[in-house]
Amino acid sequence: MTAGIIDGKAIAAVIKTELKNRVEALAARGAQPGLATVLVGEDSASQVYVGMKQKMCAELGILSVPHNLPADTSQQDILQLVGDLNRDDRVHGILVQLPLPGHIDENKVIEAISPEKDADGFHPVSLGRLVIGMEGFRPCTPAGVQELLVRSGVDLCGKEVVIVGRSNIVGKPLANLLVQKKAGANATVTVAHSRTRDLPSVIRRADVVVAAIGQAEFIRAEWIKPGAVVIDVGTNRVDDPSRKRGYRLTGDVKFDEVAEVASQITPVPGGVGPMTIIMLMTNTVIAAERKAGI
Ligand code: GUN
Repeated sequence: MTAGIIDGKAIAAVIKTELKNRVEALAARGAQPGLATVLVGEDSASQVYVGMKQKMCAELGILSVPHNLPADTSQQDILQLVGDLNRDDRVHGILVQLPLPGHIDENKVIEAISPEKDADGFHPVSLGRLVIGMEGFRPCTPAGVQELLVRSGVDLCGKEVVIVGRSNIVGKPLANLLVQKKAGANATVTVAHSRTRDLPSVIRRADVVVAAIGQAEFIRAEWIKPGAVVIDVGTNRVDDPSRKRGYRLTGDVKFDEVAEVASQITPVPGGVGPMTIIMLMTNTVIAAERKAGI
């Protein structure tokens, strides 16, 4: 293997220490950040993610306000709960875990969250602020990818970034983040997707490739320009009878072969995943600081 590993777990641990100090500063003013989590249904991956977020809250001294609802909860009831959380003074950030069950209009639920408590950064107000470079909550995975690059010394200024995947929660916001006229950005960004013609040749242009398509080991070594930086956002469950739980996690990148070509690469797990969680905590602390007038 030639590529250096971008260790998301270690970078997230550094940010965690920084956040602990900020939580303590809030405590000195009699304030405690609070994060409400809303989980609808029994999706096991979502249960794991929400559980990790709650655990991180506990480790940081952030109040966790969990709401676990049955899969057949009506849209009306979810909107009612979000309204209650908007008015709850203990709660500074509201996270509605996606995807929601099919009978729920996700956009309606996201829009119901107060923009001041939008710790996920998915509200149209937050996304609009992102596009025009205003201060606001940034979606956690894109913010985590940017933070990983900055803290790994990858200068994006003038570089070609190819993001593979155009989701509302990763590809589209990340493109807007990295194209900003700001430190840690200034990249030339291409968003490739399932309809992109000759995807390998588009990816081969990239100095930085971000894989966010949700297909296990989709990105191959022949598509990568030698020396490129590769960020793998994918977390796919692949059947593996040799594991006790029956599956293993793998990214969107065929890690072993791509690591022979790239200069730096994120592993799965231990790359982007820990960064997403710590950026959610960061947004929650920011929301609490704003309310406390810091
Ligand atoms: N589902 C997958 N990623 C995310 C995320 O970052 N936030 C929420 N709320 N749901 C998700």
